[in-house]
Amino acid sequence: MSELVQLTKDNDIAIITINNPPVNALSPGVPEGISDAIEQIDKDPNVRAAILIGGGRTFVAGADIKEFGKITSGQTRRGVAFLPLLLRIEDCSKPVIMAIHGTAFGGGLELAMAGHYRVGSPTAQVGQPEVKLGIIPGAAGTQRLPRLAGVLKAVEMCAVGNPIKADEALKLGIIDRIIEGDLLTGAMAFAREVAGKPAPKTRERNEKLGTPERNAGIFAAARELADKKQRGMMAPVAAIDAVEAATHLSFEEGCQAEQKLFTDCLFSDQSKSMIHVFFGEREVSKIPDIPKDTPLIAVNSVGVVGAGTMGGGIAMSFANAGIPVALKDADQAALDRGLATIRKNYANSVKRGRFTQQFADERMALIKPTLTYDDFQSVDMVIEAVFEGMELKKQVFGELDRVCKAGAILASNTSTLNVDEIASATSRPESVIGTHFFSPANVMRLLEVVRGRASGKNVIATCMGLSKKLGKVGVLVGNCRGFVGNRMFGPYRREAQFLVEEGASVEAVDKALYDFGMAMGPLATGDLAGLDVGWRIRKEYRHLEKPGERQPLAEDRLCEMGRYGQKTGAGWYKYDENRRPILDAEVADMVRKWASEAGVEQRQVSPEEIADRCIYALVNEGARILEEGYALRSVDIDIIYLNGYGFPVHRGGPMWYADTVGLPKVLERIREFQKHHGELWAPAPLLVQLVEQGKTFADFDKKHLAAS
Ligand code: 3HC
Ligand code: NAI
Repeated sequence: MSELVQLTKDNDIAIITINNPPVNALSPGVPEGISDAIEQIDKDPNVRAAILIGGGRTFVAGADIKEFGKITSGQTRRGVAFLPLLLRIEDCSKPVIMAIHGTAFGGGLELAMAGHYRVGSPTAQVGQPEVKLGIIPGAAGTQRLPRLAGVLKAVEMCAVGNPIKADEALKLGIIDRIIEGDLLTGAMAFAREVAGKPAPKTRERNEKLGTPERNAGIFAAARELADKKQRGMMAPVAAIDAVEAATHLSFEEGCQAEQKLFTDCLFSDQSKSMIHVFFGEREVSKIPDIPKDTPLIAVNSVGVVGAGTMGGGIAMSFANAGIPVALKDADQAALDRGLATIRKNYANSVKRGRFTQQFADERMALIKPTLTYDDFQSVDMVIEAVFEGMELKKQVFGELDRVCKAGAILASNTSTLNVDEIASATSRPESVIGTHFFSPANVMRLLEVVRGRASGKNVIATCMGLSKKLGKVGVLVGNCRGFVGNRMFGPYRREAQFLVEEGASVEAVDKALYDFGMAMGPLATGDLAGLDVGWRIRKEYRHLEKPGERQPLAEDRLCEMGRYGQKTGAGWYKYDENRRPILDAEVADMVRKWASEAGVEQRQVSPEEIADRCIYALVNEGARILEEGYALRSVDIDIIYLNGYGFPVHRGGPMWYADTVGLPKVLERIREFQKHHGELWAPAPLLVQLVEQGKTFADFDKKHLAAS
């Protein structure tokens, strides 16, 4: 018997326990252990039923994702074939009861469905999240789930990948009983009830497989949804095809169809990218010089300064996590406006069914509006979100320094200013840090945690931990202009503008990037965020521009005309009263005129060039950031772009994408751009170095980890 699986007995009931912490993944040794246990149970005349349960915090959270890379790179062959093992369990002569707590995900749910019965603790969750890794269930999940839960729910669970809770699983028939109290004790009682009775095999149950007429509508709707919400991804479509196979093929043929689709997905670049993202999201929380056991500061109450766009969203984020907030603004009218927006946002969430009225009321009650700092004396953390201006920020931090208790974290939401200079306005720079939320702050998952020169390790560790509590992914970045995300966004949007000035149409630029998979094109994004934001920043930093360096023309001029984007009804596009974009021929004419006055040569620009210019501008700047140490790893940059800038998850982030294309090819293209467009396209030294060494950004990350 494998060390990872134990077989014990309680009189006539056998208990198989999987112990493969932390999540009981089906790593090599686990299937072998289960297989041995089933053989013994079958042979043992004294055993009348068996229970399979997970040791520790969960049932089985799925296949071991680390193994996939080894399979696709040919380093390993699969051990005990999992699919035959599941048939073996189902064919066991004694009923096998799956006792589920924590999560039965992916291969875990497939294992559970091969049992004759399933019982679960009230907090258990089940799901087929494979699609989030760019694959589909690979051990008959798409064949057994519709037989237990019906076609409609099976398609949704396999194609969208979200888990469901025990009570819903019970209603659907995925589990047979919820056990209150000790799970094993309840499972034993259940086992004794069913011992000796004929045991149902999931694979033989066809009563929920529906009719061709009804199923046709379900699959058509699922495909339409996948096309809209999971644009460009192959796994959702494959998952739908596999469930559809269950409805018109035998179980065995359905499994073969599933295997083929599973393998196609597993060996695709998309799946490799999404697995990179899965581990990347966990990797970013690891900071080499900050040990895991760094003491954290308890954050049980916060203050937010500034009740504008960002302050309001930040206050909602904390309230949603159950943390009370004192929300301060400088004048009553601004405070009232801020609160009205928060109230409207909660009302919309209730209307859309995201929150109950009671939840919204409770959260709203956690936000206390104020015009003074009185409540700030006791808070554990303050997030400043006043207008962007160094003098004002310093004034606010000076006041916070006087008011707040020792040890309170003083964070700024600045998007461009130097965190060290802000910290210099206090007597405690070790407590000062940047927390750069993204708009809308209550929705966007990204939080850039900006490490100042003096930021304390406990302050950094607390902010990183806090991001998780707020339902966000925190990424630690260094204190440079624009930090990581916005610093890279500059060259990306610069190239988008240059392309229009060189002859591409506004819609062609946006379409090329949308087709690449970006949530929105770069020009439409500018209109959404407000073109005036960048304009103001550019005006402030104009003195830093190198003489003779090409600068984009159009956005400054559009702003001078009052065309700030959606908020003024016009920017790159015109907007109707519902903020729907309308192409504006006037913009096209104006840009042509400005470009010809500036001597910009007009030409045909291909969609391929548009995508390469914009995406490689991200990559080149990302490489500089990495080299300068403002991001810890290339994967940190990827996670920032996926969660803050709408980069397509199935491409893994800009740096991973560059690795996938091949760095020599990326460098060659960048050199071409340099030849035609000048020194703005000088390749980043790190990129050149990696190409010379035959390495990738992923190799750079490994080296970095080894050194730390
Ligand atoms: N394989 C390998 N490692 C896994 C894993 C898996 N399936 N699931 C989690 N881990 C690792 C994580 O990488 C992390 O490692 P680290 O501590 O070194 O960073 C550790 O386990 C703990 O994971 P989390 O930090 O995510 O812990 P949480 O408690 O927050 O979440 C969870 C637990 C809900 C189980 C979450 O980890 C999760 O969703 N895991 C993935 C589940 C999944 O996708 N399963 C399907 C796999 S594919 C499959 O089964 C194919 C089949 O059809 C054949
Ligand atoms: P905003 O203009 O919507 O809100 C600023 C608020 O601060 C106003 O309500 C104003 O009355 C208040 N305020 C000004 N001085 C104050 C003081 N002394 N005390 C208390 N309140 C005061 O600005 P927005 O967009 O919310 O930006 C706030 C900060 O967040 C800025 O630093 C900005 O750079 C940053 N940021 C903005 C993002 C965005 O998309 N808007 C994204 C990320 C960061």
